Amino acid sequence: MSGSTITPWVIGNWKMNPMQADASALLQDFKQLLNNQNIAEDSCHIGVAPVAIALSAVRDELKQANRKILTVAQDLSRKAGTGAYTGEISAELLKDSAIEFVLVGHSERREIFGDHPQIINEKVKNALNAGLGVIYCVGESLEQRESGQAEHVVLQQICDIAAVVQPAQWKSIVVAYEPIWAIGTGKTASPADAQAMHAKIREGLSQITPEGQQMAILYGGSVKPENAVELAACPDINGALVGGASLNAESFYQIAQAFANTK
Ligand code: PGA
Repeated sequence: MSGSTITPWVIGNWKMNPMQADASALLQDFKQLLNNQNIAEDSCHIGVAPVAIALSAVRDELKQANRKILTVAQDLSRKAGTGAYTGEISAELLKDSAIEFVLVGHSERREIFGDHPQIINEKVKNALNAGLGVIYCVGESLEQRESGQAEHVVLQQICDIAAVVQPAQWKSIVVAYEPIWAIGTGKTASPADAQAMHAKIREGLSQITPEGQQMAILYGGSVKPENAVELAACPDINGALVGGASLNAESFYQIAQAFANTK
């Protein structure tokens, strides 16, 4: 038991994977595992974030599951509404396709695609104003951790969005702490280090909003069934954003179960 009253979240971030046939098989297998032994909705929110072109198909396949599974977009446009923005997908278009949540600020977007704080703020604002929930990702690089700046960097990332989030919108935000050095590397932050950062994030959030005490803060970075139980036991780790291990139905299921069991 983690002792927390926050319902955990386990979100699979498929990134630029997999091909259609594999995605379909993955969802079938996952739904079958839930059919064999369900994970109660009130014990864990579950979601998957497929590539944009698969959002509608995944949303439809997930309707056949025996519990609610959220379809989450991996990104959205910094431009709102509709208009002449080739290649872009706005918050309103996601909402129109019955998508309820979107990732913003993932380190791969920040580092590879130039999503700097101003762009991120535009995305957060558009998403919230369109009524989407936001999974807001923060995290430090190895260099920043080794030079003792991890906490400062992460808290700054939290403060960055405070400029665009209205007081009533904080309850639509889930934070994901993903140390960059732990993403896709097989290295996980130790539960103690992760918990320490999560507690700092909660403290920072609580200074900004009264919602801070009740906001879910997910850990991400090489979460697997082998480390999920220990991470789930930490009081301020309220779920996981899972990359690689979410591409395997059994692993993803076991991670969801580990967090559900803390309730
Ligand atoms: P990983 O990715 O689980 O493969 O480390 C996590 C993420 O980037 O969300």
